[in-house]
Amino acid sequence: MPLQDLLLHARQKVLPVLSDTVSAMPDPIGRIIGYHFGFVDAEGQPSHGSPGKLLRPALVLECARGVAGQSDKAIPAAAAVEMIHGFSLLHDDIIDRDRTRRHRPTAWVVFGADQALLAGDALLAKAHEVFLFAQPAPPRASVDVFRAAIQSLVLGEAQDVQYARARHCTVEEYEEMALRKTGSLLGAACAVGAFAAGADEQQARAMQRFGEQLGLAFQIRDDILGTYGDPAVTGKPVGGDLMHRKKSYCLLHALTGEGAVHDHLRRLYACRAEITEREAADMVRALRNSGGEEAATRAVAAHMDQAVRHLEASGLPPESVRRLVGSAREIAGLAA
Ligand code: IPE
Ligand code: IPE
Ligand code: MG
Ligand code: MG
Repeated sequence: MPLQDLLLHARQKVLPVLSDTVSAMPDPIGRIIGYHFGFVDAEGQPSHGSPGKLLRPALVLECARGVAGQSDKAIPAAAAVEMIHGFSLLHDDIIDRDRTRRHRPTAWVVFGADQALLAGDALLAKAHEVFLFAQPAPPRASVDVFRAAIQSLVLGEAQDVQYARARHCTVEEYEEMALRKTGSLLGAACAVGAFAAGADEQQARAMQRFGEQLGLAFQIRDDILGTYGDPAVTGKPVGGDLMHRKKSYCLLHALTGEGAVHDHLRRLYACRAEITEREAADMVRALRNSGGEEAATRAVAAHMDQAVRHLEASGLPPESVRRLVGSAREIAGLAA
């Protein structure tokens, strides 16, 4: 099934759960979370804003289907994973000072950073409630995966902040950080979906490794889009990562290369603490000639190969592996 169909299925199954859960949360927290998901506008009136792609719930459900042939038992887990994603984005936009997400002003811009921070906290707590009190309850191993992934995500975000302040960051350090901040939740999505469908620990863990490598590939791809993408399509600002000295795969590649373009970039980057919008635009132009995008795309493909190897070792039926691999390649922006 093409990715588009998996995402549509996730919307149909998971959005009603999210909407019911959020609408039961009191103001002002409920309104902020509802705004983040696009259910309401800044005044709390019903709205049809984008809730995002719902990639993670789609992975939860598709992994459950891969194991058991159907996925309904995994719906609460899918909603909980998306709520963790929402919590991370509410906080991430404050940390990154990003003013736009999903083509709308970010929650902190509308409601203030203090309230958006607290809404993120409330969503984190609510996600645990939805996950832990699902019927049937998740097995202990699934709870372990869920909780470890959240800790890993938070650590990855902290490393992201740390490396933004550091002069140097190696590609290895970047990959460890990206695996944590993004790979851990995609990995958990696959594992909790598998557990909900009755997978044993060995199978669920192999599927988790698949999701982690897919998540790393996805983050490198997100970095490419954040550097070269069209804001009209991505709904995110371009050049923001550069201005805030966020270490993206393309940038790290460019900063370590030999030649005039790389020297020029190093000079631009070494300037001062603050990088202006104009300087960032200058750097994006220089980056275009640095081979960074090609190197990042090769890294995406390499991590996707690793992801596929883990999935092939999971013992899923070949047809399920084939479907998941096709969707995963689309998620990472590779030809299906
Ligand atoms: C954005 O994730 C954050 C990253 C981990 C790169 P998505 O691209 O899945 O965001 P939405 O939910 O679809 O907006
Ligand atoms: C993605 O962070 C990871 C988390 C939110 C945990 P980024 O800062 O790289 O993602 P975008 O580009 O803002 O969506
Ligand atoms: Mg961000
Ligand atoms: Mg960030």
